[in-house]
Amino acid sequence: MAQLTLERLTKDFGPIRAVDGVTLTVENGEFLALLGPSGCGKTTILRLIAGFERPTSGRVLFDETVMSGPGVHVAPEQRRVGIVFQSYALWPHMSVADNVGYPLRVAGVNARDRREPVLDALTTVGLESLAARRPADLSGGQRQRVALARCLVMKPRILLFDEPLANLDVHLRAAMQDEFVDLHRKTRTTIVYITHDQAEAMAMADRIAVMSDGRIEQAAAPETLYDQPETPMVGNFIGEGVIVEATLTQAPVEGHGRARVFGHECTVRAGNRVTRGPVRLCLRPEALRPDDGHGFVATVRRTSYRGGIYAVEATAGGAEVPVRLWLRRPPAIGQTLRIAVDDGWVIPSV
Ligand SMILES: Nc1ncnc2c1ncn2[C@@H]1O[C@H](COP(=O)(O)OP(=O)(O)OP(=O)(O)O)[C@@H](O)[C@H]1O
Ligand SMILES: [Mg+2]
Repeated sequence: MAQLTLERLTKDFGPIRAVDGVTLTVENGEFLALLGPSGCGKTTILRLIAGFERPTSGRVLFDETVMSGPGVHVAPEQRRVGIVFQSYALWPHMSVADNVGYPLRVAGVNARDRREPVLDALTTVGLESLAARRPADLSGGQRQRVALARCLVMKPRILLFDEPLANLDVHLRAAMQDEFVDLHRKTRTTIVYITHDQAEAMAMADRIAVMSDGRIEQAAAPETLYDQPETPMVGNFIGEGVIVEATLTQAPVEGHGRARVFGHECTVRAGNRVTRGPVRLCLRPEALRPDDGHGFVATVRRTSYRGGIYAVEATAGGAEVPVRLWLRRPPAIGQTLRIAVDDGWVIPSV
């Protein structure tokens, strides 16, 4: 197990800057999710950590040891990282046990000495009873667990996951998420887990680094990302937030100020550095509610049933700004609502 440090890490592919000055520390034993839209550089960061790519500039360190940097490049097989992809890449002609023992065999460990670590790894993922099966006779989730056991058998210092559950159905995904969290609890291995699914990141990770265009927008605990997004992109990407223009009419005192949004006065949360004047406000669906007496005027554009509630998209203000809220009964399309704001967060970035 190791602490992972990325220092001003940059990777260019010709004219494309895939990773752009990323600085990040993943603590020993931490479960960090790298979250971001397609093409933002997640896999490239993972390949840089594993040593499959050399950085254009910057450094990768495991604890105090430089793995990649100017004049240094430790080979992937010497880094002791385990990687799990969405394709399992198991050998079809080998049993489960032989697949799991394969990395040890390649490393020159004889059959007798392989037996115990293989059984340990299979036990950790709950597959000890299936050791003699072939991959073809397993379910998708079981195959993914074999791939995981094959990583664990090498006692990795860092475990890297690249969207390992992308191929599985919703129910199996949820079950596997629980298993990954259990595995992390049991082994306390440092984990970097790539996903573009924010619900998955929130459910599993101690901390989430949100990426966009090769950069890290914000790295924080899931609750902090949700309640206090630092940039509009994070507010938008996490938790169906919408970002609207507003005016801060009263500077924050102990975290709360007053704002005017679409002509409606409301109390909002803000950091102490925020000053009066134009601001951008992050509004969550659950913080908006219909209120006949107060609130701003919005027109319903779309509704979709989410089981128990309807997600409603409405537009507000002369500029036709979209907002989202949840209602128990579906409003009619084109209907006018008055919406009160119970809570909002002032985005601190300029
Ligand atoms: N070997 C390569 N040669 C050229 N460009 C590359 C190479 N690898 C990645 N890129 C580019 O770098 C950028 C980041 O790619 P990367 O695979 O890291 O994204 P990602 O966040 O993992 O996306 P996804 O969620 O779709 O897997 C993209 O624009 C991609 O086209
Ligand atoms: Mg990728």
